[in-house]
Amino acid sequence: MSVVVVKDLKKTFVKGFWRKRSVALRGASFAVEPGEIFGFLGPNGAGKTTTLKILMGLIKADGGEALMFGKPCGDPSTRRRVGYLPESPYFYDHLTANELLDMMGALYGIDAATRRARGRVLLERVGIAHAAKRPLRSYSKGMLQRAGLAQALIAEPELVVLDEPMSGLDPIGRREVRDMLADLRTKGTTVLVCTHVLADAVTLCDRVGIVVGGIVRDQGLLSELLSPQILRVDVLIRATDEQRAGLQNRFDDVEFRSTAEGTLASLPSKEPVNGFLAACIGEGSEVLQVTPHKETLESLFIRQAQEGGNS
Ligand SMILES: Nc1ncnc2c1ncn2[C@@H]1O[C@H](COP(=O)(O)OP(=O)(O)OP(=O)(O)O)[C@@H](O)[C@H]1O
Ligand SMILES: [Mg+2]
Repeated sequence: MSVVVVKDLKKTFVKGFWRKRSVALRGASFAVEPGEIFGFLGPNGAGKTTTLKILMGLIKADGGEALMFGKPCGDPSTRRRVGYLPESPYFYDHLTANELLDMMGALYGIDAATRRARGRVLLERVGIAHAAKRPLRSYSKGMLQRAGLAQALIAEPELVVLDEPMSGLDPIGRREVRDMLADLRTKGTTVLVCTHVLADAVTLCDRVGIVVGGIVRDQGLLSELLSPQILRVDVLIRATDEQRAGLQNRFDDVEFRSTAEGTLASLPSKEPVNGFLAACIGEGSEVLQVTPHKETLESLFIRQAQEGGNS
């Protein structure tokens, strides 16, 4: 059974005296399977946070279904099984990190000794043990994010829902969070994570869903979503001006650029590479490097965002 099921979810926000409408979700659907790290990716305003808030029972959808462990979201029996890091964690900033974890642990019904022991380990793990006794209002943005992550994990939940966990973290912090999520996967915890950091999604997520304009346009294994075809091949050559001019005359579709290392020729995917290499050698120029380029998550993301904007 899927841990999370979102089916045809719809949400329109209506605001103010003029009842201005803002459509956040237009029928979003995806599912998160047990034990996987599912990346929920999309441009600003795509509807990611809205979806997570509906799942957490913080706001109501206008239509469609959102289930966790097979139960409607907001169901009290699922609460204890889920840890949540909101997008801009609002904390009672007079509390210390120790007190925050203790309070969250108590809300989950964990006994005092266990919450103290877990809290210590978690604050160590997220790298703010040294500041455990300081009020959160004295924390930097990255430190608050780390405290937020620790509170999401205090109940050792079966499902962790994280809204932009990398936000505000320096490169070391990002790597630490990546390692923590990898540890969770080893333990069999299911993770649903929104992130803008595409490089992190590539290294971390088993599957991703790409949401644009309130609709999930694509979901699946990253390896399946990314088009396996080679998009272009870059050939680096060392050529005299005359040799380069000769090649440019023969290959209309190839783009030539001067770089510090030599001339870089970009071949569109339809251009046969062998023919071009033979011509280079025939002209007397030296082939230094041949680099094929496949689709990256970044180009897939931009393609989806552009198609989403046009539809
Ligand atoms: N409380 C609200 N009142 C009015 N409109 C809202 C509200 N919350 C969200 N929206 C609108 O719904 C849309 C989706 O917002 P949402 O916060 O879900 O996007 P997001 O994908 O999380 O974006 P980001 O990457 O910037 O965090 C946006 O157009 C936003 O303006
Ligand atoms: Mg958001």
